[in-house]
Amino acid sequence: MILAWFSVDCVRANVVIFNIIWVPNKSIGGKSGQFLTPGGAVMIGIGIIGLGTVGTGTYRILTERAALIRQKTGLDLGVVRIAEINPRNVKGKNIDRAILTRDAMELIRDERVNIVVELIGGMKPAGDLIKAALGLKKQVVTANKALLAEKGEELFALAKRTGCDIGFEASVCGGIPVIRAIRDGLVGNRFTYILGILNGTSNYILSRMTDEGISFGEALKNAQKEGYAEKDPTFDVEGIDAAHKLSLLVRLAFSSPVTMKNITVHGISSIDPVDIGFARDLGYKIKLLAIAKRSASGIEARVEPAMLALNHPMSSVNGVFNAVYIAGDRVGPNLFYGRGAGSEPTGSAVVSDIVDMAKKLKSNAVASVPGLVVSGKYREAKSSPVPYYLRVMAKDTPGVLSKISGILANYKISISAVTQQGRKLSGHVPIVMVTHDAPEDGLKKAKRDIDNSAFTKGQSVHIRIEEGNA
Ligand code: HSE
Repeated sequence: MILAWFSVDCVRANVVIFNIIWVPNKSIGGKSGQFLTPGGAVMIGIGIIGLGTVGTGTYRILTERAALIRQKTGLDLGVVRIAEINPRNVKGKNIDRAILTRDAMELIRDERVNIVVELIGGMKPAGDLIKAALGLKKQVVTANKALLAEKGEELFALAKRTGCDIGFEASVCGGIPVIRAIRDGLVGNRFTYILGILNGTSNYILSRMTDEGISFGEALKNAQKEGYAEKDPTFDVEGIDAAHKLSLLVRLAFSSPVTMKNITVHGISSIDPVDIGFARDLGYKIKLLAIAKRSASGIEARVEPAMLALNHPMSSVNGVFNAVYIAGDRVGPNLFYGRGAGSEPTGSAVVSDIVDMAKKLKSNAVASVPGLVVSGKYREAKSSPVPYYLRVMAKDTPGVLSKISGILANYKISISAVTQQGRKLSGHVPIVMVTHDAPEDGLKKAKRDIDNSAFTKGQSVHIRIEEGNA
């Protein structure tokens, strides 16, 4: 229960005013204070900017689970302000009008707000609001992966200067506590390999294409009907959202200053159900994979549709679920699986950050080492050789197979399996090959030569085969 709120200038000693003790907090340093109940519980003021899907889930958990959180942590968390400009997002949510504002800056300036929770997404004005909050020495929690991927370094540097922290558990894989696992649970490990299914929308689309044999377009329409895909699905289906998330994981796990321009990104919009069927015949599933590898020559980071063996645990990650497979040198492989989006799963992660911040405020702890600030230069490694799936639409005449294998041999690519499928597609037959480990540039050159030849039709299709082990 919140007994009272009032603002007090920063002083060094605890001040007892009636039954309420104000605790000056060096980690937040400025004018915001904390309040203790007569029973000694610390009251922490939360301000939520944005009452959309994630904001609503966060608000619900904070209010409906207040007693549980108090019981588990001894913390009293009070949502003291909510900033929202869309009346539809407020309607029917039983929110006290007195805490509502349309002005996010008013929330940030409110001295009762100790933790500013940014849940509006996008670059602007989210970035400016976070900067303003840090400038006023408020702790920040955000789910904004796009902003952190582009501006994380700058925001964390500012947080460091102002003695604050930014919690971003909800920015990668929604409800799965993978950020905390890498930062805390696995802190004694070095990592060399990350494999992620980081985007629920594209995983849902691929799952439906796989299960029902439907086209990308049809599966996308279903995803939009179900409310998983946005009207403009570009970020999700073209791999950009997954790349944002991968960049955060690489910074944390590899302590490397990766940026979006270092990540090779391909989406799923050109995946043909025919290749999903052939993949299954060969013992694989196609997934939009986020892959990061660290070797002596540097880091390779990519997001692209790739084939995984059907018996790989990540192949069973279907629908809107996300997963991260990460291997630590001391702990071995870990697999994190769960809901990567949605109101309450993502709200659950936001709440975990709020509790983390509140604990630091309560103990007057200094901000933790800023997670996304990494020194040094990014060293990009050449893509490592992997096996490829290659489908060529070829004339069904004698000698064609040997011509294709001849072109591959020109680039020192050897074939481990080849089948000519009986399914005739527009007058040509699909020749499906699996190569041994091949360099990406050689494979692309061979593909270009094959596509320019007289015995094939249209563009051939190549898909990486990811072994999926550290
Ligand atoms: N749009 C994302 C997804 C969820 O489909 O996984 C938020 O990052």
